[in-house]
Formats: sequence, structure tokens, C-alpha cells
Amino acid sequence: MTPDLTELTLIRPDDWHLHLRDGDMLKGIAPESARDFGRAIVMPNLVPPVVTGQQARAYRDRIMAALPAGSAFRPLMTLYLTEETDADDLIAAHDAGIVTAVKLYPAGATTNSASGVRDFDKVQPVLERMAEAGVPLCVHGEVTDPDVDIFDREAVFIDNVLDPIRRRTPGLKVTLEHVTTQDGVDYIRDASAGIAGSITTHHLIINRNNLFAGGLRPHYYCLPIAKREAHRVALVEAATSGDPRFFLGTDSAPHADPAKESGCGCAGVFSATNTLACLAHVFEAAEALDRLEFFTSRNGPAHYGLPENEDTITLQRTPEPLALPAKIETGAGPVTLFDPGFALHWRVKDTPQEPAQ
Ligand code: DOR
Ligand code: ZN
Repeated sequence: MTPDLTELTLIRPDDWHLHLRDGDMLKGIAPESARDFGRAIVMPNLVPPVVTGQQARAYRDRIMAALPAGSAFRPLMTLYLTEETDADDLIAAHDAGIVTAVKLYPAGATTNSASGVRDFDKVQPVLERMAEAGVPLCVHGEVTDPDVDIFDREAVFIDNVLDPIRRRTPGLKVTLEHVTTQDGVDYIRDASAGIAGSITTHHLIINRNNLFAGGLRPHYYCLPIAKREAHRVALVEAATSGDPRFFLGTDSAPHADPAKESGCGCAGVFSATNTLACLAHVFEAAEALDRLEFFTSRNGPAHYGLPENEDTITLQRTPEPLALPAKIETGAGPVTLFDPGFALHWRVKDTPQEPAQ
């Protein structure tokens, strides 16, 4: 790495885990991802969830309509796996290029996950068809048993659910999404081929202390919940190592402020707007700016078997801290932007994407 690097050009990044919502919220926040990212894997946890190929196509159309004119951003759609998922419909939607991956939410694990999977045996035939057809499975890796401590839910899921699924479904390509623990990092590193992990921006920056620093901080509440500092350090090591099995999935998940700042606040951190500035800071601090491109732009496409983006973005170090808005105003209400807790000194130079064909 050049010690006094002030500009860094990267293959245009992708976001391998994103919530774009629908309606006025979608219209308000889609431009925030479209500005810097080439593509994103779009989560299907709408109400009701996106469960059929036809619904995925219609949702993709709504996303395209919400993008700024001329945007080249491409949403990569997912289907929400339920115990009733029709494998033929799923495979057909994948073969037609409508659906890129399938999302497994354990029922009750997080926002809008009520239709998720309770009995993993019931989805085994679908998982086998996916393995055969090469459809990747994106996993929310937390058990939902209320007797399991919230800080242990990822590690228990890996042992009790994920590893058994992978053993009985050889060939299934899996993304363990939003890895938050050393246990998750170790599992991916030690596993045979076919599994990778996405890591969010905020889990690289906050630990569980930040949730309670001076009071309750609802805008740091997300699921999986941030863990203790040793886990955050393990995530930074994995992300900045260049290891092809780790890549960016922001899990940027907007909720309007009243739904966060409430007696029973929603889980989700909104980081689409400042993710690249935050990541440049994290990678610079780890003396790993030369490996940022692997994390943001190269490892993800390799895992999903997709080409890298053809264009680039340039990050520029600025002496003055960035002046970002605290909130993004949307037709569905204001959405507070992730506050990393430090000044940001990297900005994405204005490099408009080529319009979509
Ligand atoms: O914090 C989260 N928010 N975690 C999830 O898994 C879902 C997401 C959301 O949809 O708000
Ligand atoms: Zn998510």
C-alpha cells in the first residue's frame, strides 16, 4: 500500500445483501444504492414476501422504475424460501434470469420472517433441486429458540442447522449472510468449497457496547445483533484479508425513524449512502486499502459466478470531513443514516454510471 494514497480506483462495487423495500420507501432509498453500486442482491422480505418467480419479476420492475433516470444499477432478485416453495417455479425463474438466489429465513428470526422455515426437513427437496441447478442459497444464520441467548444464536445455528444442511446437500452453494462472529468466520474458513460469507459495513465498525453507549441507541440495533469486540476484530481481519470467501453485503435495511425510535423498535441499520466512505476508513486503518477491491467488487461476483462490473469508481481522500445528511427524507418518513462514530475522509468521486441498455 502507498502510505500517502489519496485516490483509489476500484472496479465498481456490488452489494450482496440489500433491503430496498417497496412503495414510497423504495422510491426514497433506491437512489442511495444506485449511486455507487453496480448490482445488489435484493432481499425478498416484503409484506407479503416475494415467493414466486412472477412476484420477483414484478418487484424487479418496481425497483427499476424507482431508479434515477439513466441509472445502470441492476437488482439481482431473490425468492423467499417457505415450506411451500414450488421448486419448479423457483428453478424456472432462475433459468429465466429473473432470480439469482434464494433466501432462507428461519421463521421469526427477524423483520418480516414469519413465513420463513420452521422445519428444515420440509425444504430439503427444494434445496436438493437448487444444488442440482446451481441456485445459491443465502442464509440468515440465527436460531430462533428463545432459550438461546441472542448473542449465541449465530454460533448455534451454524452447528445445529447450517452444517447439517450442508452435509446432506452436497453441491449447494451457500452464502452465510451478515457474519457477525469469530465462529462464523472460522466455519467458512475451515469449510470445504461452496460456502462464503457476506459482512456488513456496520458490523465492521460497531460492537455491542455501541448499542448502549450513554443510552439506548436504536439506530445500531440490527439482526444479527452486533457482538463483542473480539468478534468485530475477527470480521475486520476476514474482510481485509483478501480471502475470496468474504465480501460486502451491507444489509442496509431502512426503517422510518418512528419505527426505530419506539418502545419496540425495528431491527435494521441504513448504510447505503455512506458504506464506501466507511469501508475506505476501515481498510485504511487496517493498512489494507489495496485489498478493498476484493471485498467490494471481486470476491462476490466470483462466488455467485457472475462477471465483475466493467466500469470503476474512484475514492478520493479529502482533508475536510464529509458533510453527509443525518437522515434521508423519503415519502415513507425520514431514515437515519448509519453514524460510524468517526469523521469520514473518503468520498466517491462523481462518476456517473453508463445508462442501462
Ligand atoms: O437488522 C435486520 N433488518 N436484519 C434482518 O435480517 C432484516 C432487516 C430488515 O428487513 O429490516
Ligand atoms: Zn438483511
